[in-house]
Amino acid sequence: MTIEENQAKGLWSRVRVLLGVRDSHHGLSEVDEFGIQIPPARLRYDVAGTNDLDWFLEGGRLGVKTLESTLESQNLDLASFGSVLDFGCGCGRVLRHLSDFTETQLHGTDISRKGIAWADRHLNFAEFGTNKLNPPTRYRPDSFDFIYAFSVFTHLSHDLQKAWMSEMHRILKPSGYLLISVHGTHYRDKIPEELQSEFDKGKLVVTGVRQNGSNRCAAFHPEDYVREHMANELGFDILQRASRGALGNPEQDVYLMRSV
Ligand SMILES: C[S@@+](CC[C@H](N)C(=O)[O-])C[C@H]1O[C@@H](n2cnc3c(N)ncnc32)[C@H](O)[C@@H]1O
Repeated sequence: MTIEENQAKGLWSRVRVLLGVRDSHHGLSEVDEFGIQIPPARLRYDVAGTNDLDWFLEGGRLGVKTLESTLESQNLDLASFGSVLDFGCGCGRVLRHLSDFTETQLHGTDISRKGIAWADRHLNFAEFGTNKLNPPTRYRPDSFDFIYAFSVFTHLSHDLQKAWMSEMHRILKPSGYLLISVHGTHYRDKIPEELQSEFDKGKLVVTGVRQNGSNRCAAFHPEDYVREHMANELGFDILQRASRGALGNPEQDVYLMRSV
């Protein structure tokens, strides 16, 4: 579906909500203050680790605030980007708050078919699709000015960290920007005791790797690992690091990088 078709669909879905038209499958749907539908509890849980509706909405808003303030610290403006990808968007917890970015081509991708199906149906101002656990995505090289990935690298195995950073590099335009959030030092206590010394040596620690890509797989990123193995080795400059800076994914660290 094109962005224009999506926008028309979005307008209609908001009118339906205002008129109180019933969703044929689920009865009258719950909506936020902008008339955008709210996903079912299960999908909220998948992205936020809780069903709590207030936190789902507030956390998404704080995600956007994190994007804007981190970019502003480098004199960059989220609204100035022509094309933006939410990598690992799930049901669009963060993207849903960008509905007024009408000059930006918004995209979301995730391995979750259910999350993407919901987002595609209800967040009509963006284009959605799924990807597999391993790269590549369906996007052409040099597609995006900006990609963000909140709490996605936090659930990937060692191999997939580098593979996905390379894919981010491939689909970003030259000198494009990437923002990721990771479990940094604040999460050291959550690492099994016998592995904490690995983290202290600057090594990535991953637990639950058999459930790679799910919330049961947890990756912990020391700063040295991010700098050396995710940025330097793979063609990114780190512009900004904010310890515990991911307001909508507390208390994760945020890194803003530029593709070189
Ligand atoms: C903790 S949730 C965060 C969702 C969203 N970024 C947010 O902050 O609301 C992690 C998301 O990463 C997705 N994910 C995990 N592995 C992925 C992969 N290889 N490619 C794309 N998405 C992935 C999961 O399906 C899930 O939606």
